[in-house]
Amino acid sequence: MNLTAEEFQLLAQFIHQASGIFINEDKSYLVKQRLTPVLKAEKLGSFSELYQKLQRRDNFALRDRVLMSMTTHETSFFRDKHPFDAFSQSLLPNLCQRVKKRKAAIPARRGPKVDIWCAACSTGQEPYSLAMLISEYVERNWFTGVAVEDFRILATDFSTQVLVQAVEGRYNTVEIARGLGDRYRDKFFSKEGDYWYANESIRKMVTFQRLNLKDPFLNLGGFDVIFCRNVLIYFDEETQKKVIRQFHEIIVDDGFVVVGSSENLLVDKQIFKQERHLETVVHVPNKA
Ligand SMILES: C[S@@+](CC[C@H](N)C(=O)[O-])C[C@H]1O[C@@H](n2cnc3c(N)ncnc32)[C@H](O)[C@@H]1O
Repeated sequence: MNLTAEEFQLLAQFIHQASGIFINEDKSYLVKQRLTPVLKAEKLGSFSELYQKLQRRDNFALRDRVLMSMTTHETSFFRDKHPFDAFSQSLLPNLCQRVKKRKAAIPARRGPKVDIWCAACSTGQEPYSLAMLISEYVERNWFTGVAVEDFRILATDFSTQVLVQAVEGRYNTVEIARGLGDRYRDKFFSKEGDYWYANESIRKMVTFQRLNLKDPFLNLGGFDVIFCRNVLIYFDEETQKKVIRQFHEIIVDDGFVVVGSSENLLVDKQIFKQERHLETVVHVPNKA
């Protein structure tokens, strides 16, 4: 199926408006390659027809499918390793101190004391990695009185398809082997048929929600930690700035933001500064 320059422009514009993802003209082959199966499945005769169909407000499933086809969902457990070392060895001890302080300040306050947001979580390996680290840390430091219930992990993505798998915590043999050692696998996952499923102990620590980073962050509350890795890189500069400003609004004054190794929050130089935690550069708000 041929993709004309005009059709490419229309589809790229749709994808940009819907997700913030910027697709350059030299990637038109990618649009053609990834959307041809959608065209076939929908029995459409041209990319113009696909664009027309996407304009219909009730076409949520098709919009999701197109965006799903045009975005990468690449992820793995403990991806890149060092941010998770920094989390467990440097950030977690600090967060546990916060738990203790907040409990002491308002002893009657129920519910989580520390809030973590994993934005653009794909199929869930990233938030479950954080949940496993918290669980192990709390187990090792049981005498401090800090419990896993003191942490809330909110994990979001704009693709319903990836969220369905994330909520189930279901991984095939290839996915489960990527980044996860046997000890963690056997402790936190159980095999049923061809798949491994996250155990209740870590599933109950994570709440999944659909959220488009391009939209205003409404009713999310404040966060001590934000993990937003390997997604900003796909956004155009304006969308990046918008997202980063919103992170700044909802991160607590002494909060931490962790982004991917090829990303940073310095597009708006004055609002975040960088701090090194072991091998990881962590962004902290400049709230002065
Ligand atoms: C490459 S994955 C990164 C997953 C994980 N953070 C990691 O680093 O392993 C990028 C994810 O961003 C999601 N995404 C892309 N654009 C988004 C948007 N505008 N809002 C929310 N999620 C988005 C995609 O659905 C995909 O699951």
